[in-house]
Amino acid sequence: MSTNKTFTMLKPDSVEKRNIGAILEKITASGFRIVALKLTQLTHSDAEAFYAVHNERPFFGELVTYMTRGPIVAAILEKENAVEDFRTLIGATNPAEAAEGTIRNMFADSISENAVHGSDSDENAAIEGQFHFSAREMF
Ligand code: RTP
Ligand code: MG
Repeated sequence: MSTNKTFTMLKPDSVEKRNIGAILEKITASGFRIVALKLTQLTHSDAEAFYAVHNERPFFGELVTYMTRGPIVAAILEKENAVEDFRTLIGATNPAEAAEGTIRNMFADSISENAVHGSDSDENAAIEGQFHFSAREMF
């Protein structure tokens, strides 16, 4: 079976609300293997770089403040069709529009604080994973 990888962050709201265990359980129960995992915190410049594609958007400042206000859980996940299947598992950006049973439907409060990140392409998954993990931290 061919597998590929995606990158996720459990965002500061998920850590604050003590949802790390429940979200990781949902991820692994959905068939993803955890390849790398850590609790870490984005610096201001990390968050600006990570979301640079949005730097002209009106919510950019709020997004950087949110993403840097406390620790996140960073992880690399492996599964067949990982990027697309993980985006399906997390649901729409706005939790009010996220399908029943998706992670954002279950654990997110608003479009601004939406519990989890999922890479949007194989290329970005590799870039984002390598930003957070060295080769010896990937299993
Ligand atoms: P992500 O990159 O975190 O996985 O989220 P996404 O692809 O579903 O959504 P994206 O359009 O890339 O937006 C990145 C993050 O910015 C925040 N956001 N706030 N207030 C707003 O209107 C708004 N829109 C987006 C969210 O935290 C979103 O996940
Ligand atoms: Mg995105």
